[in-house]
Amino acid sequence: MISQESIQQIQSRIDIIDIIGGFIKLKKRGANYLGNCPFHNEKTPSFTVSPTKEIYKCFGCGKSGNTISFLMEHEKYSYVETLRWLANKYNVALEETETSPEFKVQQLTADSLYIINNFARDFFSDALFNSEEGNDIALSYLKERGFREDIIKKFQLGFNSSAKDEFTKAALANQYSKELLIKTGLIANRDEKLMDNYRGRIIFPIHNQSGKILGFGARIIKSNDKAPKYINTPENEIYIKSKILYGSYFARTAIDKADECLLVEGYTDVVSLHQAGIENVVASGGTSLTPDQLRLIKKYTNNLTIIYDGDSAGIKAALRGLDLALEESLNVKLVLIPDKEDPDSYVNKIGAEAFIQFIKKEKKDFILFQLENALQEAGGDSTRKAAIVNQIAETVSKINKTEEFTRRQDYVKQVSEILRIEESGFNALVNKFIRDKISKEETKSFRADFNINTVVEQTNTEEKELDALFNKDEMQEQAMVRSLIEFGNKEWDEHQTVAQYVFSQIDDSDLNDLIDNKMLVSIIQTYRNWYNEGLQPTVKNFLYSEDQTMNAMVLSVMETNAEISPNWKEHFEGHIPTREELYKEEVISTLGYLQLRKVKRLIIENQQELEKATDAGEQIICMQTHQHLKQMEVEITKQIGTVIYK
Ligand code: UTP
Ligand code: MN
Repeated sequence: MISQESIQQIQSRIDIIDIIGGFIKLKKRGANYLGNCPFHNEKTPSFTVSPTKEIYKCFGCGKSGNTISFLMEHEKYSYVETLRWLANKYNVALEETETSPEFKVQQLTADSLYIINNFARDFFSDALFNSEEGNDIALSYLKERGFREDIIKKFQLGFNSSAKDEFTKAALANQYSKELLIKTGLIANRDEKLMDNYRGRIIFPIHNQSGKILGFGARIIKSNDKAPKYINTPENEIYIKSKILYGSYFARTAIDKADECLLVEGYTDVVSLHQAGIENVVASGGTSLTPDQLRLIKKYTNNLTIIYDGDSAGIKAALRGLDLALEESLNVKLVLIPDKEDPDSYVNKIGAEAFIQFIKKEKKDFILFQLENALQEAGGDSTRKAAIVNQIAETVSKINKTEEFTRRQDYVKQVSEILRIEESGFNALVNKFIRDKISKEETKSFRADFNINTVVEQTNTEEKELDALFNKDEMQEQAMVRSLIEFGNKEWDEHQTVAQYVFSQIDDSDLNDLIDNKMLVSIIQTYRNWYNEGLQPTVKNFLYSEDQTMNAMVLSVMETNAEISPNWKEHFEGHIPTREELYKEEVISTLGYLQLRKVKRLIIENQQELEKATDAGEQIICMQTHQHLKQMEVEITKQIGTVIYK
């Protein structure tokens, strides 16, 4: 880990014009600099860099960020690689926080596993091309399936002989440790005898994004009922299945160029599509996508196209990943391969050109596909239809990042057209899911109570108010976070800073009740962690932090212009005070608003309890609670009131 101090040292030296100007030509325009955007093709420059704000923004494609995200995006560096690059450029000695002994051992083990895997790859490749069995059985099998030799070599495919221990002998002769060999999964220990694990199998080395070999997939040649079709490397220090995308090393530049990643299920699908000239393709290994895999894809593109067999198992696996993909802001498209074929067999059957056309023609929006599929299954059944409305609303509600508002509205429009329900009603339902996300229990009962008719009926009154309230609420939550980040280090009174005051008002259990937007909650938590570590966090700490999603959110929160409330204008003549002058008031009113909202929500909940309550005891408790909550409401309102009208 690189220490926070080193990161701050680097931050203080970063000159965004110098860095970005090293990659693209920038010209000064007023306070800013302008150039051709490196992230999309353009003839007239719309890529703007602000030296004072230390950010860039392209008004053509919308990409924006700071120096670190520029380097991550443009050079495909990881966060740590970017810091090292900058440290090197600016001669900052990187201070690494103490690595634990366990971590060192783990690193050493990982290094050894890579070395053994390289040895194994060479050994298996040699066996495929230069041994009799390899030639007669394995190479001929691969060629029969249509794989060309250049592609076999590119993917470094190999073969392990059916003899018991040829690899084992060679590895031990090279002094590799027994324990580590077992760890790689290449060798098994059977009754105290070491032997090869992948006997008589074709070997697919599995590379990480930078080409290091993490492990292997070993495919049986002659199908056999008892033996599994593939044996894969067991989990170890470097083979972590949930983080692996087969083919990512060979696909990365093509994904970048196409701004799209194709996802298939199997190793052979990846290899065959490459052979057909379709190189922006990776495989998930037949299971549903994990968050880590999605994040890996997102490093290269926002456009994911899933190409799966038409059989239901594959689609179901893919569907399970959908909500996650939406939360990661990916655009997901789907192509189904017909008639028991998979991408490998289908491209071999119809040829590369036809396959490319097929993908183009059959590509469907995943959300709309899911909807149309479900509607077809439901037929005329109205209860099932009602369930679909809710389900699709929940799915659409997953697109809830601030910057994705337009995309979500596009879906709201399309989905309501397909369902033939009123757009505003569906929109309200989607917003309700966003609000209810925190409390899963509530969501469940809501779904049960809801049916399609009420969606339309409730539209005009209550739900519209809800909608308006939602937007206002989100603004208020943002305002509170903005005032914390902007004013946190200022003095509150002689005993404490603004940040200390805010944290004395809300503890962790409160936070989720006060603020609905999860990202805003984690921004506050991050702020507090830094604060407790002795840092005086500013907006810069966020902008240079590893989490790029959080970074974007902070940027948008800070950019929103805080308007002086109309009340101010009525109560001050002449000089209108700035936010800077009134920071304490802003803190009290933004925090107070959220506290008030929480109390109001509790009052409504309590009233519902009261309506349901059957015995007198329960009713009395509810009424007492009501009194108490009302009292709190008055107090908070008074406090906010003194701020505004003092
Ligand atoms: P498939 O059974 O579709 O195999 O499994 P495939 O990739 O099309 O291989 P061929 O074309 O029959 O040779 C899809 C993926 O699921 C994983 C592998 O990653 C495989 O590529 N899998 C499958 C396993 O890990 N183990 C198995 O036993 C089967
Ligand atoms: Mn196949």
